[in-house]
Amino acid sequence: MCGIVGYIGDKKAVEFLIEGLTKLEYRGYDSAGIAVNCGLNIFVEKAVGRLDALKEKLKNREPEGNIGIGHTRWATHGRPSDSNAHPHTDCSGKFVVVHNGIIENYMALKEDLISRGHKFISETDTEVVPHLLEELYNGNFLESVQKVLNKIEGSYSLVFMSKDNPDTLICAKQDNPLVVGLGKGENFIASDIPAIISKTRDTYILNDGEIAVVKKDSVKIFNRKGEPVGKKIFHVSWNAEAAEKGGYEHFMLKEINEQPKAVRDTMSKRILKDDSAVILEELNWDKKFLDDINKIYIVACGTAYHAGLVGKFYIEKLARKLVEVDLASEYRYRDPIVDENTLVIVISQSGETSDTLAALKESKRLGAKTLAVTNVVGSSIAREAEFVIHTWAGPEIAVASTKAYTTQLILMFMLALYMAEIGKTISPERTKELIDLLKKIPAQISETLSDVDPIKTFARQYGFNEDVFYIGRSLDYDVALEGALKLKEISYIHAEAYASGELKHGTLALIVEGVPVIALATQKSVYEKTLSNIKEVKARDAVVIGIAAEGDTELEKYLDHVIFVPNTDELLIPLLAVVPLQLLAYYAAITRGCDVDKPRNLAKSVTVE
Ligand code: G6P
Repeated sequence: MCGIVGYIGDKKAVEFLIEGLTKLEYRGYDSAGIAVNCGLNIFVEKAVGRLDALKEKLKNREPEGNIGIGHTRWATHGRPSDSNAHPHTDCSGKFVVVHNGIIENYMALKEDLISRGHKFISETDTEVVPHLLEELYNGNFLESVQKVLNKIEGSYSLVFMSKDNPDTLICAKQDNPLVVGLGKGENFIASDIPAIISKTRDTYILNDGEIAVVKKDSVKIFNRKGEPVGKKIFHVSWNAEAAEKGGYEHFMLKEINEQPKAVRDTMSKRILKDDSAVILEELNWDKKFLDDINKIYIVACGTAYHAGLVGKFYIEKLARKLVEVDLASEYRYRDPIVDENTLVIVISQSGETSDTLAALKESKRLGAKTLAVTNVVGSSIAREAEFVIHTWAGPEIAVASTKAYTTQLILMFMLALYMAEIGKTISPERTKELIDLLKKIPAQISETLSDVDPIKTFARQYGFNEDVFYIGRSLDYDVALEGALKLKEISYIHAEAYASGELKHGTLALIVEGVPVIALATQKSVYEKTLSNIKEVKARDAVVIGIAAEGDTELEKYLDHVIFVPNTDELLIPLLAVVPLQLLAYYAAITRGCDVDKPRNLAKSVTVE
């Protein structure tokens, strides 16, 4: 995810800008840039790649100015490049902006601005913002910024700098973090606290809709209506390491908690205004394209493979196309039956997993159409595939994947709906119903995250067992596989997921008194069957923890513990059911004293075979 810094004071701005950006490197980025107001002009320098590349460009030509902004970019709209890196400027070079988030209506704004003669040089959504400011500027910096904010839709933290206002930075927040650090005779702006804690611990944490006018000796904050806001100073007591994790003990917990936002970002801009359809502009497929496809493969590794299993269910159910899911390490050596009528979908958070990349290359060689679902713009897999759709989860740092999984599920669901709309295998009413429910998912994940105490208790109670079983049918089985993987990866407990119907063909022999079994029972269409499987393990005196949808009154009659998740369509419930399983794995690992973010023997990105 992008990082933002800003400085205003008496010192050379560039020094803090580079130091602040360095502190934000842990968040991941693909390019960086700074802008400094030097009086006669605004100095801008940017570079694709690491911060060192930017430092190299600044060697012997560091700007002298005392007011500046900086940015590390994690590409979303447009590949990583010098011109797509921030800061972005208007035509005159008088207005400069850095931005985190997504301007959802940028296409319409861009077309309008181009028709008014504005020249764009990047592929980003952000660039519309400085041009809008140029267009709307009336001599009053704050008023003009407010006008810009009234025009843009989407999520943002933004910092504005203007050549003609050399004593002011203005920043605004909507759905992305932004903090103002309060110094003596100098003030700081950052997207994240780690950037500023070596300078000050007194901060204003902005709320959505707030605008801060930052000068070297004052900070004034206004709400959406332009009324002044009286704000309390937030004193940061975290050390640098805790600050990187946003105050959470581990990146994994931070990332679990980031899921509502990650999921919302991934959906945004991909739903038609009246909620009647999914739009995937990146694909632009038509009926003929889909009719020509007689087979779909989904190929991936690890958690992404589990997302693929759910994806298969979605595409088969909604778009009525046959899908096979394969592990990339198996597929590439299977001599797969693939030709130009096959669509191969590869899913990869990093976009760099060597087996997945090799499977993609092999598919291309065999003539297949290829689609990549990945979190990293410009990654090897993104570059190699014919079509790409991105999850917008932001960088995932913990080895155990969490927010990447839920965003992959969202995209697979949207892809299936998109295909169903084109292929006319779904009614408009059902589409609308599903989209309405889809939009509720971020809030429902937040709800699920708000009650972790029972999960902590189970983790403490059962965290020292050596074997745990996960059971479920249909989509519950797919989620069970992911839940078991999470537990294995970070707590080193032997965890196995079984399709409930298969229990009696083997695993039931392992179920004895006291063995913990996590039983998922969220799928209404197979509920009765699931219940009878649960009774089978209960009859062998297993300790069964049920995962059910709110409103289920049955399960509690048989089980001592049931964790409820909010109710929704059974297709969407995996997005909620996986959350307690992620938390259970996390707290079990804590109970056992494991290194949660860096589990033994595992790597985040597996670029070797
Ligand atoms: C590694 C990671 C997993 C991830 C898998 C696939 O094993 O530890 O979390 O699911 O690779 O990675 P990808 O980046 O291709 O999704």
